Amino acid sequence: KRHLISAADLTRDDAVLVLDTAEEMARVADRPIKKLPTLRGRTVVNLFYEDSTRTRISFEAAAKRLSADVINFSAKGSSVSKGESLKDTALTLEAMGADAVVIRHPSSGAPHRLATSGWIKGSVVNAGDGTHEHPTQALLDAFTVRRHLAGAADGGPVPHGAPAGDGTGRDLAGRRITIVGDVLHSRVARSNVLLLNTLGAHVTLVAPPTLVPIGVESWPCEVSYDLDAVLPGSDAVMMLRVQRERMNAAFFPTEREYARRYGLDAARMAALPEHAIVMHPGPMNRGMEITAEVADSERCTAVEQVANGVSIRMAVLYLQLGGALPADSPAAAAGA
Ligand code: CP
Repeated sequence: KRHLISAADLTRDDAVLVLDTAEEMARVADRPIKKLPTLRGRTVVNLFYEDSTRTRISFEAAAKRLSADVINFSAKGSSVSKGESLKDTALTLEAMGADAVVIRHPSSGAPHRLATSGWIKGSVVNAGDGTHEHPTQALLDAFTVRRHLAGAADGGPVPHGAPAGDGTGRDLAGRRITIVGDVLHSRVARSNVLLLNTLGAHVTLVAPPTLVPIGVESWPCEVSYDLDAVLPGSDAVMMLRVQRERMNAAFFPTEREYARRYGLDAARMAALPEHAIVMHPGPMNRGMEITAEVADSERCTAVEQVANGVSIRMAVLYLQLGGALPADSPAAAAGA
């Protein structure tokens, strides 16, 4: 597919192809020289209208590991602050010969507009738009879940701390993923619900009633308001950042009340099955949705998710820009 705007753009086969390709890319990261020549001569532009640490750095690392030329554009300090439109910025990037534009924007729908406008000819990748979607985050989360929960030879859960196996070729059928917190403002939650459902997982959202989006009944998941009831049946629990910057204070309980009812602390973590993992997309509010003790525990995959993000973003850029797998990779040998 030319663009990646929504997790809904991906069929199960598409998603499994990205996850399997990311496994190949992770093998590159384990080599002494972490670079492939596959996108030499191609140009990837990171177009960021909103702050980012993980997504921007990992897209840059991914493109560089594939030998692409990378242009990093931040709206802060650019002519956007003088009022330049998305269209004129896009036309400028097109003039620079962008083969792919990775865009983060505070407005939901901006990546779709860029992809359908005709202003640029290359691929568009949504790196997070408003409260809408963040499809590569969902892919790296699915990759992380699959490595932990789909790697056992018998298809059963991998005990926590055991070697995960590569999980290649497996989806997440029957796995139970619980996503907790500020669903209303979360593009991560929406993309994860769509992708995890496509991969066969069963998703439950847990949130205060004021932080559940209108129309959630049409999402392919369940909704609960009782975290303690859901945790014992979860294979993975994904804690969402409380997005105070997008929030009307009237809709938010006190921080202490939020942490008491919806935060993950050591006592709640102990209620999870032994094999279950704790996930967080970052950035974290330590002491709010997750305690420091849980964030720093070996069950928390937050840092591993960041590393997996580089492999996933390498896979997405490689598949969209048509690079070649290393000749010695199993997938290349199999003619993929
Ligand atoms: N998870 C995530 O999107 O983090 P950043 O905002 O730091 O990119």
